This record gives sequence, structure tokens and C-alpha cells, in this order.
Amino acid sequence: MTTRWLPVLVLLIGLLAGCGNGTSTEEAGPTEPDAAWRADVEREVASLNAMRSRLAQTITSEETVDMGTFARVCKPVGQRARALSDSTGWVVQQIADKYRNPANQLDSTGAEAHARFAANPDLTQRWTRVERNGASGWRYYRRITVEPTCLACHGAKETRPDFVKQNYPDDKAYGFEAGDLRGLYAVFIPDSLRAAQAASD
Ligand code: HEC
Repeated sequence: MTTRWLPVLVLLIGLLAGCGNGTSTEEAGPTEPDAAWRADVEREVASLNAMRSRLAQTITSEETVDMGTFARVCKPVGQRARALSDSTGWVVQQIADKYRNPANQLDSTGAEAHARFAANPDLTQRWTRVERNGASGWRYYRRITVEPTCLACHGAKETRPDFVKQNYPDDKAYGFEAGDLRGLYAVFIPDSLRAAQAASD
């Protein structure tokens, strides 16, 4: 093609791009979560994760792992996630495909995220736009990795503590090895919450 056709081509592309009176350009939604609260969410979740890791290291080889051990090690994480939800308006969860408590099952957007983390071992965290129960917002996911200390309760099926065998008949959270993907922290921040906060600022 000779250069004399170039202006015609440019004109044509311009016409095509412009057709539909701007409806061809997508409505600009937020592409990144706001740095102001993004850091807060990531910090709180990191601290939740570090807490369980630290507590699990207090299990000694002499101790009988029972309900008391759970109350000291893994239970406080669920409790703190609920307290955090109450104090912030975020929805803070731990979700897993191999869940112990059926309340922690994957939902549809969680399942999509879980598959990504499972397929990509280097992925540690991710922010996405989601619709959750009819509300739009941001959802933050962070990988939960199995550590050797977790195996006292999430190891081989037969070696699970008696209280787990008895209290969780549909348990799927066993048979892990250190380094495995245990599940995800999932934090939903509804847009309505941020709008309300912005209005009160
Ligand atoms: C003393 C036993 C015990 C230890 C040790 C333990 N957990 Fe758990 N974990 C449990 C029990 C019991 C539940 C079910 C909690 C409930 O009823 O909500 C659970 C639930 C979870 C959940 C929520 C998802 C689900 O399956 O319901 C995650 C995530 C989790 N544990 C990760 C870990 C990690 C990571 C470690 C090690 C750092 C660990 N746990 C150590 C007993 C334990």
C-alpha cells in the first residue's frame, strides 16, 4: 500500500471506532482497589495468617492434640475473622475446597479464585471485582499454605484427633502435606460500604 492511502485508512478506523456514539467504549469501572484501604485489608489478613502459624508452633510432641489444642490454635483465627467482619463491615472468610466446617465451602467466585491459586503455586494474593449476593465490590484472596504444624489435625485421615472424627462427619480437610494449598482467606469489601464511609468523611 502506498502512503497516499494512509489518511483514508486512518479516517476509516476513526469512523469504525466512533460508531455507536461511544457505546463501544466500556463503562469505566475501578481497575484497582483504593490504596487507602487496600493496605489495611492486606495487613489484617497477613496478621491473621501469622497468628495461626505462631499458635500452631506451640503444639508440643508430648501433648495430646484435642479440642483444647483447637481452641488455642485454629479456632481463634475463625473468631478473629468474625470480629474483624463486625468491626469493619468487610466480609472476612476462610474458604476451602477441602473444608472441615461446611460453612467454609467455596462459593462461585471463590471457586474460580481457588482454581487459579491451585494452578499457580506462585500466586499468593489477588484482588478482583465480584458480585456477591447481589452486591458489587472488591474481593481479596490470599493463599493459606499447609505448614508441618497443621498436620496434627489436617494430616492423614486415621491420625486426625478423635474430636475431629466425631464432630465433623463430612470432613474433607485431611490428607494434606506441608506446602499444599489449604484454602483461601477471602475478604469482600462492598462498594456500598466505601460509599457510606466517603459520605461520612
Ligand atoms: C488442633 C487441631 C488443628 C490444628 C493444629 C489446625 N487446625 Fe485448622 N481446623 C481445625 C478444625 C477443628 C477446623 C474446623 C473449624 C470450624 O469448625 O469452623 C479447622 C479449620 C481450618 C480452616 C477453615 C476451613 C475449613 O476447612 O473449615 C483452615 C483454613 C484451617 N483450619 C487451616 C489450618 C492451618 C493452615 C493450620 C496450621 C497452621 C491448622 N489449620 C491447624 C483444627 C486444627
